[in-house]
Order: sequence, then C-alpha cells, then structure tokens
Amino acid sequence: MSESIDRGRRQLLTVATTLTGVVGVAFAAAPFLASWKPSARAKALGAPVEIDISKLEPGAMLKIVWRGKPVYVVRRTPGMMESLVNTDDKLADPRSERSLQPEYAKNDQRARNPEYFVVLGVCTHLGCAPQGHFDKGDPEISADWPGGFFCPCHGSKFDLSGRVYKGVPAPTNLEVPPYAFVDDQHVLIGLDEARVG
Ligand code: FES
Repeated sequence: MSESIDRGRRQLLTVATTLTGVVGVAFAAAPFLASWKPSARAKALGAPVEIDISKLEPGAMLKIVWRGKPVYVVRRTPGMMESLVNTDDKLADPRSERSLQPEYAKNDQRARNPEYFVVLGVCTHLGCAPQGHFDKGDPEISADWPGGFFCPCHGSKFDLSGRVYKGVPAPTNLEVPPYAFVDDQHVLIGLDEARVG
C-alpha cells in the first residue's frame, strides 16, 4: 500500500511540475496540488477525477463518472480476496492477457493495492452496467456464487477482480482504467505512469 501511494504521490508531483511549466505559473507543487480541481469542461474531456475513499467501508462499493462512464471502487475484505484464488479453470481470461488494464493491474487482484479494486462499470459484451453482488451464495445468482459482478442484460458474470467467467456473452474482463493513489484516502482516476512525460 505505502509503496503504491508513494509511487502515486511522486507521479502527481511530476504531473504538477509539468503542468505548472506548461501554463508558466510559478506555483509550488504542494499548494498547486491542494487547489487543483478540474473544471467541468476539463472533466468532460477526460481530466482525472479525484475520489475520497476515506468513508468506504470494507465490502462496500462507490461509483463515480469519469469520461461519461461509471467507475466503481470496491473495498475488498480479506474474504473477498480469498474468493479470487484457485478459480482459473472457471474464468475465460484469468491472467487478463486479452483484457484491458494498466500493467500494474495485470495480476490476480487486478489492482495496485489488493484492498481497493477500481474498474469501469461497463460490461464488455454490449456495455450495460454490471451490478455488484458481493455476497456468497446470492440467491439472485446461484448457491455456489462466490461473490462478484453480474450483468443483468444478458447474464455475464465476473469475479471480484472483474474477471469474466467462461460460458457467458462478455468476451473479456471488465476494463481497469488508469488510476493513482494521491494518499491513503484519495484515488485519482484517469492518471498513471504511462501518461506522464
Ligand atoms: S451487456 Fe452485459 S451481458 Fe450483455
């Protein structure tokens, strides 16, 4: 966690320095970061959006909109993370080789920090919004349901890392957008190392 946060912080400082250079204003990095809020127009164009995760309880999910698309942030419990182990044979792309995510999210948890799962809420079949069904054995899904996301449009199922199950219409895992931790209570959606410099 701390390494991820530190990386994110360094990255943000780099971006802040770059942006101040572009607009030619001599802000110090820290005050600039503290006051930096993208305008509505900048948000519409895809500017990073900062999320406060300080009140997100274990097992809960929050939703925001970035670039006109829903983004989910799930705070996974240890039990939720356990459900991600030894499930490869049930998944269509368990290693996320055919799916879209930043390199730092190409792991079983598909995350920088396993506790927080950040994902686009857009089904990879035809774009409906999958719903969080996090309880094991959810009666709306099946008795052996381990918890995950369910798309109500045509029944695609995804695990708690957004990895798609075999035999459903969605061809690939849910997409993980670029993101960075500002600190341990804030996540910035829309920014990662690949976009810096
Ligand atoms: S849009 Fe999700 S299963 Fe078809």
